Amino acid sequence: MYKHTLTPVMLLIGGLTVTTAHAAPDGKDIAMKGAGGVPCQACHGLNGEGNEAGGYPRLAGMNAEYLAHQLKSFKNGSRKNPVMAPQAASLTDAQVKAVANYYAQLPVPVVQAPTPPAELMTAGESLARNGRWSDTIPACIQCHGPHGQGVDPYFPDIAGQHASYIAHQLKAWQSGQRSNDPNGLMAAVAKRLSDADIKAVAAYFASQPAAAGK
Ligand code: HEC
Ligand code: HEC
Repeated sequence: MYKHTLTPVMLLIGGLTVTTAHAAPDGKDIAMKGAGGVPCQACHGLNGEGNEAGGYPRLAGMNAEYLAHQLKSFKNGSRKNPVMAPQAASLTDAQVKAVANYYAQLPVPVVQAPTPPAELMTAGESLARNGRWSDTIPACIQCHGPHGQGVDPYFPDIAGQHASYIAHQLKAWQSGQRSNDPNGLMAAVAKRLSDADIKAVAAYFASQPAAAGK
């Protein structure tokens, strides 16, 4: 994967005038220009950093197998999202692999949110580190790693992920919009969380450094 210094505008012009022939699909090409759908970077950012306001997850530095599993889940409907589904639908299996590999090897950008207000931080940290046994909620770090940095390839890194996105996923498991987790592990946890729990734990993980422990 080579690095170059073209600006997005130049890339766009380049895309219209230059055709490059690749034996295997080029992940960076898909990310920058799309593959029949909207370019991935239009939502996920030029460096895969995502966007809190849009609810677009950070993809940079995430595990390639995990990202590919998610793209396949959007394709087969075990993960439902009206914005992302059409993007995934246009990708072949080879393109899924190429674009997942591309995002996985990007450096983890700093998207760390500011430390939330003390009350939210304390509640979120307690759930993350200890869970709440009175409601049979296990500690998030039991599966997601001691710093929320993930355990590849099955348990994604959630530290430094956008809070809006984390909260949206927890609600998607509660409603059944997302049902692609192996053995229903994550759905079982999410269904025991209150709205206040979700707000706190999302704010907590968003404020943690993404690359910790990597
Ligand atoms: C129009 C905006 C948009 C575009 C374009 C887009 N995405 Fe997404 N993407 C989203 C949203 C919104 C989500 C979160 C969906 C949800 O809440 O389930 C998402 C989620 C994802 C996820 C799941 C990440 C995770 O941590 O589970 C992957 C992987 C992904 N996108 C890859 C891509 C790729 C690859 C492309 C280009 C082929 C792309 N996206 C184009 C909006 C977009
Ligand atoms: C028993 C293990 C387990 C525990 C405990 C657990 N998770 Fe998960 N979590 C998973 C698995 C497995 C996945 C990946 C599901 C998939 O393959 O799509 C996941 C995925 C996620 C995702 C989606 C990330 C992404 O980028 O798509 C979020 C957010 C998340 N977990 C938050 C939490 C929070 C917050 C807690 C604590 C309240 C928690 N998890 C506790 C197993 C667990």
